[in-house]
Amino acid sequence: MQKVRKAIIPAAGLGTRFLPATKALAKEMLPIVDKPTIQFIVEEARASGIEDILIIEGKSKRSIEDHFDSAPELEQNLASKKKTAMLKLVQDTTDIGVNLFYVRQPHPNGLGDAISLAKSFVGNEPFVVMLGDDLMTDKVPLTKQLINEYEKTHASILAVKRVPHDEVSAYGVIDPESETEPGLFNVKKFVEKPAIEEAPSDLAIIGRYLLTPEIFEILDHQAPGKGNEIQLTDAIDTLNQTQRVFAHEFKGKRYDVGNKFGFVQTTIEYGLKHPEVKDELRQYILEVAQRLTKEGK
Ligand code: UTP
Repeated sequence: MQKVRKAIIPAAGLGTRFLPATKALAKEMLPIVDKPTIQFIVEEARASGIEDILIIEGKSKRSIEDHFDSAPELEQNLASKKKTAMLKLVQDTTDIGVNLFYVRQPHPNGLGDAISLAKSFVGNEPFVVMLGDDLMTDKVPLTKQLINEYEKTHASILAVKRVPHDEVSAYGVIDPESETEPGLFNVKKFVEKPAIEEAPSDLAIIGRYLLTPEIFEILDHQAPGKGNEIQLTDAIDTLNQTQRVFAHEFKGKRYDVGNKFGFVQTTIEYGLKHPEVKDELRQYILEVAQRLTKEGK
């Protein structure tokens, strides 16, 4: 069995929900307190045993490459001022423990189109796709959970999570056939952004996929779907007709940083754990709550 060593992080979307911040900056560079979301994703990949990562970038969004590159002037400055803790934070972004590769998606034609650009990088190996929209916390990283399942089934597997029924049309949704073991589903169909009344379940695809390389043959011929974009979910549905594609229900905590409210929520939750700001932030939240309660009267 082949080891899962490679990951793709697509970061070439237009990020329209965060305009104007994302006009010249990739959405994945927006920080949660002090760390860009893409760094959390790269750290999850490393913790899951991934060795090589291909980041798919959009036009004029070089900030991701710069973030993971060395910054000699800054590093010298911090070293000369003996700011060793800060220097370590900067150097940790370069000594990240995985090999990073980059490719540009010329047109934002959809997630499926972005993934198809990774064909020669991936070759003939199973690989994972990790979206910067979702930050996950659990005892075992979600990507590692998928790899553990793959080592048993040797089949593609996607992460899913139950979402409130009125939110299903924002996601790809699975039509589960059977639960072969707790939290592991055989899937009848994968449907991208179904209308609420047509959604086959409340099990939504969240941003981690483990796929076999046969997906690339399908993506080569994939017609545009919802939003006139090449949809990865459509290609996965086709793959599921010739090979099993499982769904793994994630039971840990998911932070949706791809929309404004989720982003603010995540910032607060992470802030409440951040050693430098947690006490002040807690105090501030209590004060705000008190003020809002008074105003509400
Ligand atoms: P989203 O559906 O979140 O789209 O893409 P988006 O453009 O990033 O954001 P909004 O909806 O306009 O605010 C899901 C993932 O697929 C990547 C995105 O960067 C994100 O990680 N993506 C999407 C691409 O890399 N290329 C595309 O053409 C589309």
